Amino acid sequence: MAVDVLLGLQWGDEGKGKVVDFLAPKYDVVARFQGGPNAGHTLEFDNIKHVLHQIPSGIFRKGVVNIIGNGVVLDPMVFQQEIDELDQKFNMDLRENLYISEKTQIILPTHKLLDRAMEQAKGEEKIGSTLRGIGPCYQDKIGRLGLRIGDLKENFDKKYDELTSQHLKILKSLNFVWEDDFQTDFLEAIEFIKQYKICDTEYFLNDSLNKNERILAEGAQGSLLDVDFGSYPFVTSSNTIAAGACTGLGIAPRNIGEVYGIFKAYCTRVGSGPFPTELNDETGEILQKVGNEFGATTGRPRRCGWLDLPALKYAIMLNGVSQLYMMKADVLNDFDDIFICTEYELPNGKVTNRLPYEINDMNLKPILKSFRGWKTNLHADGGFKALPTELMTYTKFIENEVQAPINMISIGPDREHTILRGEGILSQA
Ligand code: GDP
Ligand code: IMO
Ligand code: MG
Repeated sequence: MAVDVLLGLQWGDEGKGKVVDFLAPKYDVVARFQGGPNAGHTLEFDNIKHVLHQIPSGIFRKGVVNIIGNGVVLDPMVFQQEIDELDQKFNMDLRENLYISEKTQIILPTHKLLDRAMEQAKGEEKIGSTLRGIGPCYQDKIGRLGLRIGDLKENFDKKYDELTSQHLKILKSLNFVWEDDFQTDFLEAIEFIKQYKICDTEYFLNDSLNKNERILAEGAQGSLLDVDFGSYPFVTSSNTIAAGACTGLGIAPRNIGEVYGIFKAYCTRVGSGPFPTELNDETGEILQKVGNEFGATTGRPRRCGWLDLPALKYAIMLNGVSQLYMMKADVLNDFDDIFICTEYELPNGKVTNRLPYEINDMNLKPILKSFRGWKTNLHADGGFKALPTELMTYTKFIENEVQAPINMISIGPDREHTILRGEGILSQA
């Protein structure tokens, strides 16, 4: 058995939560491998809509073990709030089937203040962070200063005081002032976490593999926000690509099986940074409205644009995607014409299908290919075969360009609005 990885191929919010929830019954374990409460993964079923931030998206499926891996950064307060909400709304008790790695890094209240202070100091150049303390927490991890869930066992207060006082010095040097008092809630949340199963999840996962259990690794954010390969510095602070599943869970590369690449039939981005196919016009507004493109974590409007093939190909290359899942096809239902960016024109007139290093400073002109819209509502009955010809033309064009099969098309937010392709083969041109 191998570990399958599911991740976003764009700038996040591709619909990963929906698909993890959809696929989870096929798995024994679902494990988040990076990111933290900057993520907002939306699940919809039985007229219920629920957004998860820290807790893996397999939680609604009975019998599935959910793991928060060592690569994740965990905010105890967000964790407690999420658990309380699941308890109140669904009467769920996760103490049996939720495991947290003892090596998971803890987001401290001062990490969130530092996030705010650093963004404020950047002014116009700000990253557009979710301000959940992600960057400063990963900074401390790499700087070998961070506190981990395993530290709750012993001397936590001392370690917490030491790190917090270092943070306060930095905040002072940045002349940052704040009014919030997080401390009491934070310390309460730290006690709360102790009720959950805290263990060496790398052993748990490898033991599961040896028992032939099926594991799904759940990514957060998207490949174009990867700290190494995204449009740095307008990225998040973790490796969002498939390789992150190995380091974020303790899984050897040769144990990776399928890599599911999730992408929207168009593109969105929230926060700052380059977005070559962005539509700053009425069409962009329509995509935003019809797609309900507002952040699941911060509520910020998402920037919208056409599908960007050079960026998608890059993400597929970095991840070794074996299957593509195309989301939100229904959002394009009413368009007469739909466009895909096939290449970029550089300021010097040259044409390229690669993402240039200077992407942040360059005005890339997308070269667009137009497709006829299908102008009809989509239905899950009848499978792929019943989909409108125009949508199949759009789908096949993408498959042939990226040389990976689109094995699922999502046509709505609900679990049921999902069309799987039976045979899963590359379509013929
Ligand atoms: P994630 O971060 O990748 O899990 O994605 P988000 O939950 O942040 O954003 C995806 C949004 O699109 C959520 O509101 C989903 O309910 C919704 N969604 C997912 N799939 C579809 C789809 O096929 N069609 C439509 N219209 N909405 C979808
Ligand atoms: P999910 O898992 C979309 C973006 C932020 C910002 C940049 C850095 O729901 O797809 P950070 O808070 O990490 O310092 O922000 O990354 N960002 C996301 N955008 N979806 C996400 O997660 C995101 N997580 C972070 O908007 O531009
Ligand atoms: Mg999201």
